[in-house]
Amino acid sequence: MPKVCLIIGAGAGIGMSTSRRFAKDGYHICLVRRSDQAGLDKSIHELIESGHQASGFILDVTTPDHLEALVTKIETEIGEIHTAVYNIGAQIGDRNLDSTTHKVFELGWKLGTFGLFRLAKSLMPYMVQRSSGCLLVTGATASVRGNGGQHSHAATMASRRMLCQSLNAEFAPKGVHIAHIVIDGLIDAPDTLGKMLGPDAFEDLKQRKGYEKNGLLVPDQIAESYFHLAHQHPSAWTHELDLRPHSALPWWNHQKLDL
Ligand SMILES: NC(=O)c1ccc[n+]([C@@H]2O[C@H](COP(=O)([O-])OP(=O)(O)OC[C@H]3O[C@@H](n4cnc5c(N)ncnc54)[C@H](OP(=O)(O)O)[C@@H]3O)[C@@H](O)[C@H]2O)c1
Repeated sequence: MPKVCLIIGAGAGIGMSTSRRFAKDGYHICLVRRSDQAGLDKSIHELIESGHQASGFILDVTTPDHLEALVTKIETEIGEIHTAVYNIGAQIGDRNLDSTTHKVFELGWKLGTFGLFRLAKSLMPYMVQRSSGCLLVTGATASVRGNGGQHSHAATMASRRMLCQSLNAEFAPKGVHIAHIVIDGLIDAPDTLGKMLGPDAFEDLKQRKGYEKNGLLVPDQIAESYFHLAHQHPSAWTHELDLRPHSALPWWNHQKLDL
């Protein structure tokens, strides 16, 4: 049975770039996304056309039991999950407290934190049994800093980060590597940032900050770091990594408000 890389939250950004990187190393790729069947088919087609093994699943991580059933299905029918990437975002744009409803806040928590908790509950027993495996969790600037309008997003991303630290305390001694990656900047990600901004604003952003200006994180380069993390020797594990374009201010140098 092939070793599997399971990517939960697999759009054209980090998700697809990471899948290409792991596929190159012989992994069977399992891609999960919420709604875009055509996008998923395109990704699977690209991987298979390039000579790789890949399976795709449309699944909403907030639906009870679906994530758990998928982990069991992959482990029993496809292969051992060597690496799982929890790449679900919870950004809803800036909303002040008044317009952050209970429902919105709860959804952010389900996407950002509870989904990871449920994944860990179903996946850890397999990885512990093998004393190996890696869980990579994508974070954001909001994992380490709250901000205006970010009530729901920052609360869930920070709690996701703490969940990673707690998982790490329990499972690193059992041979399972858990790493949280703070993505401290905007990514050239058409399915997330692109859809949130709309095509014109996204294109404008790329013109101003695109690749050659190194103002946006490039998903293929993020994927190189993810691959490296998943293959570190146990004598030198990274538990948290932060990534940003060289031209961006890191989160701890956030510009002061004009007073
Ligand atoms: N984009 C940025 O600028 C940025 C900045 C900092 C941090 N991040 C972090 O990066 C990660 C996302 O990476 P990316 O932006 O490059 O995205 P991506 O890999 O291109 O796509 C992520 C995919 O997640 C899927 N998804 C969202 N909600 C889901 C749900 N409930 N169930 C199943 N799948 C779901 C979406 O699928 P559908 O399209 O099918 O709905 C989306 O395509 C997140 O953890 C986010 O916090 C992003």
